[in-house]
Amino acid sequence: MKLFKFDTLRRFLLRNLRDTWIKPLNPQHPHSVLISRATYSPWYNDPAFMKTYDTVKNSTLVDIYRCYELWTLVRQLEHVQGDAIEVGVWKGGTGALIASQLSNVASSRKMYLCDTFVGVVKAGEKDTLYRGGEHADTSKEAVLELMGKLGVSQQVEILQGIFPEESAHSIEHSQFAFCHIDVDTYLSAKDVFEWVSPRLSVHGVVVFDDYGTWGCEGVADLVQEIAKDSRFFLFQNINGHAVFIKLADSNHG
Ligand SMILES: C[S@@+](CC[C@H](N)C(=O)[O-])C[C@H]1O[C@@H](n2cnc3c(N)ncnc32)[C@H](O)[C@@H]1O
Repeated sequence: MKLFKFDTLRRFLLRNLRDTWIKPLNPQHPHSVLISRATYSPWYNDPAFMKTYDTVKNSTLVDIYRCYELWTLVRQLEHVQGDAIEVGVWKGGTGALIASQLSNVASSRKMYLCDTFVGVVKAGEKDTLYRGGEHADTSKEAVLELMGKLGVSQQVEILQGIFPEESAHSIEHSQFAFCHIDVDTYLSAKDVFEWVSPRLSVHGVVVFDDYGTWGCEGVADLVQEIAKDSRFFLFQNINGHAVFIKLADSNHG
């Protein structure tokens, strides 16, 4: 009886709230909140993820859907050569999660964590919300403390400054299997992608955190520009991620 009532309520909510329009910041970028029919939550069967997520959840702005996707993507990179890099670290939540999974895959691989630690930069006319300086409420020390809690301090290196121009020189010759871009603005995201893409192994993965986020429409525009490049295969995951897989080093034809 109880179950029947719950199911009736669920159907009522689905019917009426399934697609709730959110006022867009720009008419070209519609937004809505969806109640999905897909409810499978595999992270509950993954105790290692749940333990790690519990440690990082207060140090990240990223929800469990996207965190679990980062976790599962990194697990699959065993046979792709290279290190991992995150640009846009803030308090270190997603960086710690990626570093922790990377240590399970191969403890010899480095994880580079790159942030200004004084907030968002390079906001411009393509950006609908960010003006510069947001997310400055963090520090290198706070990030290092989180890495210590997960036992990955040896594997990570923090690069402070605007990436790439102020902080990438020491890793200019590195090769990467994975790159997480979480910088909120069009130009920052573009500069990071252009720096990392020639250094990315074939079958390497680039994740744009901000693709579906209200207020990061500049990053959504950038993703559509990159999607025209035949060297990259795009998954638009409506959890908010845009995931690119590198198919080749040079364009076909
Ligand atoms: C939304 S926060 C990152 C959130 C984080 N990944 C998490 O787990 O919640 C965005 C960060 O990007 C950083 N940032 C933006 N542009 C940057 C750039 N070009 N170089 C370095 N850091 C940048 C900001 O300082 C800010 O800390």
